[in-house]
Amino acid sequence: MDRTAQLTTRPAGREIAYDPSAAPPSVQVRAAQVLEANWTGRSTVPSRGLYPHQWSWDSAFIAIGLRHLSPLRAQTELETLLAAQWGDGRIPHIVFNPSVPLDAYFPSPDFWRSSAAGRAAGAPGTVQTSGIVQPPVHALAAWLVHLADPGLSRARGFLRRAHPRLAAWHRYLLGRRDLGGAGLVSVVHPWEQGMDNSPCWDRPLSRVAPAPARSFRRADLDHGTPEDRPTDLDYGRYVRLAADYRDGGYADGRGEFAVEDPAFNALLIASEHALARIAQELGASGREHAARAERLTAALVQRLWDPAAGMFLCRDVRAGEPIPERGVSGLIPLLLPGLPRDLVATLVRTLCGPHFGLGGTTRLVPSYDLLGAAFDAHRYWRGPAWFNTSWLLERGLRLHGERGRADALRRGILHTAGASGFAEYVDPYTARACGTTGFGWTAALALDLLHDRPSGDRNGLTAIKGGDRG
Ligand code: SER
Repeated sequence: MDRTAQLTTRPAGREIAYDPSAAPPSVQVRAAQVLEANWTGRSTVPSRGLYPHQWSWDSAFIAIGLRHLSPLRAQTELETLLAAQWGDGRIPHIVFNPSVPLDAYFPSPDFWRSSAAGRAAGAPGTVQTSGIVQPPVHALAAWLVHLADPGLSRARGFLRRAHPRLAAWHRYLLGRRDLGGAGLVSVVHPWEQGMDNSPCWDRPLSRVAPAPARSFRRADLDHGTPEDRPTDLDYGRYVRLAADYRDGGYADGRGEFAVEDPAFNALLIASEHALARIAQELGASGREHAARAERLTAALVQRLWDPAAGMFLCRDVRAGEPIPERGVSGLIPLLLPGLPRDLVATLVRTLCGPHFGLGGTTRLVPSYDLLGAAFDAHRYWRGPAWFNTSWLLERGLRLHGERGRADALRRGILHTAGASGFAEYVDPYTARACGTTGFGWTAALALDLLHDRPSGDRNGLTAIKGGDRG
């Protein structure tokens, strides 16, 4: 029997039809095959070669797509991640699979030494993890996973068990990571924000002395073209920041790198909206989460909006100034329901203008300013288009009534995902595949768009806006 067909726990009428004699297989079937190939039994690897463990925000995006194939697997994906939560509330950016050889990925568990170095912060003793975090997409993912099969979710107590952990995760971020004192969360490492070598980090990273090149061995270059990956100099700085954080017992507030990032905070706000819905589902009012989402939205606008750039900018907390670079991160707040209308209109203009070119020179959203001095169409987060950011912006456009632009972006994502073999990222002009292929969130988010027909978007981010009780 075909393994793709075994994936689903849905009633027969909602299964993905897969007829092996029909060629070529649809994007839907091939996306399902990627998720099946990357499934380990309890979670999904972003990529079998390059990223052979469980990654935090990857898992959240993957669960959003996986819910259409198997709501049970999607719940399990998030539960596996949440089981690795630290006592202080942080959800680690990597949960290591003990059966993967140490040299398959760097930094490996013996670098992070979570259960020893993270003991004071409450790192679990039963599983090895990294000590940094990634963007908080999890409550949003949990709510969308619940909506895919509320009956199964209620029967398994999925939200009842997830809610306290998700709330503790947000408390950690808001309590320990408000390093700028303005109510927003700071990231303490570029890997936390997820867009590792974005030019937005060049200035704050330039203050960090790199670890000597010979003190570590990169495993990523075994799988990727060096021109598509961060440079050795950037890697040396990542290693230095992570080692210093570890050597300080993963205590917050001391590091050289602290940045308030628009996407990280916008995803936290979207997840606070989702927590409000989750609390309502569990019989509470959810008002506390809704009020927090509103307060955070006001802080985001007040602190990071830059009228001259027509978008949000990152803020270097250690230097006390905005970072004058246009990264895709500064467009992501478009996904927020509570954004003032004039800011929505400006963000759409910037997205479709010369700096990001959407609908003109580009079909997916580049990760960095097309006109920026540091633009590079192929190198990791310095220009290529990624599928998760394009998915978030498609959701944002649709949420704010930009239906034509959302439809065009949706078509671009679906076509490019399939044509590139579910690439990790692509050249924003030519759509040439970069990084690795068979990438988990690319397949998952394509599946999500396929299931969410443009005429009815009730399963997307509009599900956190209101009026949808699943
Ligand atoms: N994204 C980083 C890497 O490339 C860390 O998660 O390994």
